Amino acid sequence: MAASGSAVGLGNIWGFPTNAASNGGAAFLCAYLFLAFALAYPALMAELIIGRAARANGISALQSISSGNRSRLAAFLVGFAGMITVTFILSFYSIVSGWMMAHFFDSIAEIFKLMTISNWLTSDAPLRNSLFVILFVLLTVKIISAGVKDGIEKWASRLMPSLLILLILLIFYVVSLPGAVDGLRVYLVPDFSQLSDPALLVDAMGQAFFSLSLGVGTMLIYGSYISDKENLPALGGLVALLDIGIAVIAGLLILPAMYVALSNGVEIFDSNGEFIAGPGLIVSVLPNLFETMGAGGILVSLAFFSLMTIASLTSSISMLEVPVSYAIEYHGISRKRASIWIGALVTLISLLIVFNFDPLFDQVVSITTELSQPLLGLAFCIFAAWVWQRDEVLKEIKKGSPHVENSVFWRVWPFYVKFICPVAILIVYFQ
Ligand code: PFF
Repeated sequence: MAASGSAVGLGNIWGFPTNAASNGGAAFLCAYLFLAFALAYPALMAELIIGRAARANGISALQSISSGNRSRLAAFLVGFAGMITVTFILSFYSIVSGWMMAHFFDSIAEIFKLMTISNWLTSDAPLRNSLFVILFVLLTVKIISAGVKDGIEKWASRLMPSLLILLILLIFYVVSLPGAVDGLRVYLVPDFSQLSDPALLVDAMGQAFFSLSLGVGTMLIYGSYISDKENLPALGGLVALLDIGIAVIAGLLILPAMYVALSNGVEIFDSNGEFIAGPGLIVSVLPNLFETMGAGGILVSLAFFSLMTIASLTSSISMLEVPVSYAIEYHGISRKRASIWIGALVTLISLLIVFNFDPLFDQVVSITTELSQPLLGLAFCIFAAWVWQRDEVLKEIKKGSPHVENSVFWRVWPFYVKFICPVAILIVYFQ
């Protein structure tokens, strides 16, 4: 539940549907399904297996499977780069999550007709953004400082089912509104000519890596908390299925919602005729849609933004756990202190971005998710397949699934992480 919580986040409910909308709808869906199962799932397994075998944070884990000074140094650099990357991802993620929380409180303010507060909550003022960043990071720190069982696992297993229920209720509601069918058509009827567009494959691959939280050590650290009795390939499969499933289901909400908005007179295309994607979709198109729905719209807005906040929180805790576990295990700092200090650092970086939004935000997003994540994902595959002994890998997986040697997984996976994943990631990278 916690690993699915990490995977399911803004990337599923905002990233996937808007990517699909701007890349030919169903064609993107097909490419995404293929790439997520064929490439992202094997990379996810690499992280989970290394994590469980080493039972340690990213840096120590990669070092423990390396022999020789050079590969140990490489292990340190990859683990450290993952930690820096995830800290920056958390910094921009907290800003967007802060917007979600502000809109959540705006729905409450509207219920009580507190219009001045409501106007402030929906303004883009740096003060509002800063306060909500601080609030969001504080919540994340609170859960992480409570530890793995009482923090991460307890909250993930409360929040994840609520997220699914809210998502399904919202879909039923939005799909029944006029205009929704056009959105469903764009999403579900494929235009296969788009599949030849390399940009579509690049976007689908990047989306799959971001969505499964790969390359930065998050899944590795969650892997280190998994019991030896668990069947890892099945567990990883479940996480991937849930993540991909929720992204696909979120598409059934967001695309129809955009077309409902269009039929209510809300602008959903920018001046170039492209969909308003990115953060613009959620903070401009959807609130406008909810406003056109009258009194019921406030409740839908409340449900939607609590869904977004929950999804963000189960992901942000997994991000903060990466540097926190390193500080605890490597430097012997207490969990509480580590969470507070690293949380403070993340808040500082976020505030720096808030006050220099235009030059920094897009840069940070693209450097961390488009440049750093795929490269680090590649490095994890290389460690699992080229650095680590094949026998050791098998021994680790066998702990929870004694017959894995004869399974399809063991026949295919080692080859995949050794050759296919690195080559495919490199192709995407150079694109
Ligand atoms: N997988 C999350 C999402 O789809 O929103 C984002 C994410 C979480 C990226 C954790 C990286 C990470 F380490």
